[in-house]
Amino acid sequence: MDMEVFKKDDHAIFWGDAIEVLSGNIPDNSVDLIFADPPYNIGKSFNGRKDKWESEEAYLQWCYSWFDLCIQKLKSTGSFYLMAATQNMPYFDLYLRKKIHILSRLVWYYDSSGVQARRYFGSLYEPILFCVKDKNEYTFNTGDILVEAKTGAKRRLIDYRIPVPAIYNSNKVPGNVWEIPRVRYRMDEYENHPTQKPVELLERIILASSNTGDVVLDPFSGTFTTSFVAKKLGRKSIGIEIEEEYIKIGLRRLQIQTHYKGEELRRELRSYEKKILQSNSASYYLTKNRWNTNSHSKLKPSSKFINFITTIKLYISGLI
Ligand SMILES: C[S@@+](CC[C@H](N)C(=O)[O-])C[C@H]1O[C@@H](n2cnc3c(N)ncnc32)[C@H](O)[C@@H]1O
Repeated sequence: MDMEVFKKDDHAIFWGDAIEVLSGNIPDNSVDLIFADPPYNIGKSFNGRKDKWESEEAYLQWCYSWFDLCIQKLKSTGSFYLMAATQNMPYFDLYLRKKIHILSRLVWYYDSSGVQARRYFGSLYEPILFCVKDKNEYTFNTGDILVEAKTGAKRRLIDYRIPVPAIYNSNKVPGNVWEIPRVRYRMDEYENHPTQKPVELLERIILASSNTGDVVLDPFSGTFTTSFVAKKLGRKSIGIEIEEEYIKIGLRRLQIQTHYKGEELRRELRSYEKKILQSNSASYYLTKNRWNTNSHSKLKPSSKFINFITTIKLYISGLI
């Protein structure tokens, strides 16, 4: 398929097929961190493109071919994080452990308020493999990802197992179960994509496994969460995505372009924002500047409401 690249400063977006872009456009041994969150072969629709292969074997073979490319593109000190469906992880684990060192088998746990299974135990987690090319030399920024060590520190318990007993540490490196909420419709970071990953999840991964100025690559970018967080944290980013609709999200989120083929790139309004804009009262407030605080109008709205309307006004005028 055709390929197009959009670049600004230290950030590149490739519109194309992951395998083609990886093999033709990314130099070997050039990437510090790869986060891969591919289609899971479970029949989801990515803007109309069905995430379903003709057989499980075909899907596995497709994955193995881009795993090999990812490993080839990583620097010798690089790290590879792979998300996948729980049912495919055993195959991936067996394949990857022959080629790279799997240091952690992570569980991203979230609660779900959606439809729940009734006749089996519903899935509330997604597995992630954390792999490194060289287990003796890889980036792991312990100090940047510490979390509160609840038990000992809060109760100021003493650890008597060490030669000189002392109070337990108040911080620790997170364990391998990460409880991070999924991206919800009402969250600021929400984009129109079926499997958007949370900023918080990528923050932990990028902070732990890369340094400022390092190159972070995501072969299946979706809403470009990886590139967005990489940019925020001062890393360079390369994002690959096959669907044009999601390329537009990336161009906007990374502030690479404000327009695309004559279309202004704006975040789609949520249904509740549209309702507010449509309501007579909101348009009344939006069209006239009625809130002169010196005025004696009886129609004085609360400061919370004024802030909300101001945000919408800024949004409409393209300032946020
Ligand atoms: C699970 S989603 C990634 C979501 C992403 N991590 C995020 O936070 O938004 C997988 C993405 O891979 C894209 N995709 C599917 N096949 C692809 C291919 N051959 N090359 C590149 N991207 C592909 C899909 O369009 C979809 O957006």
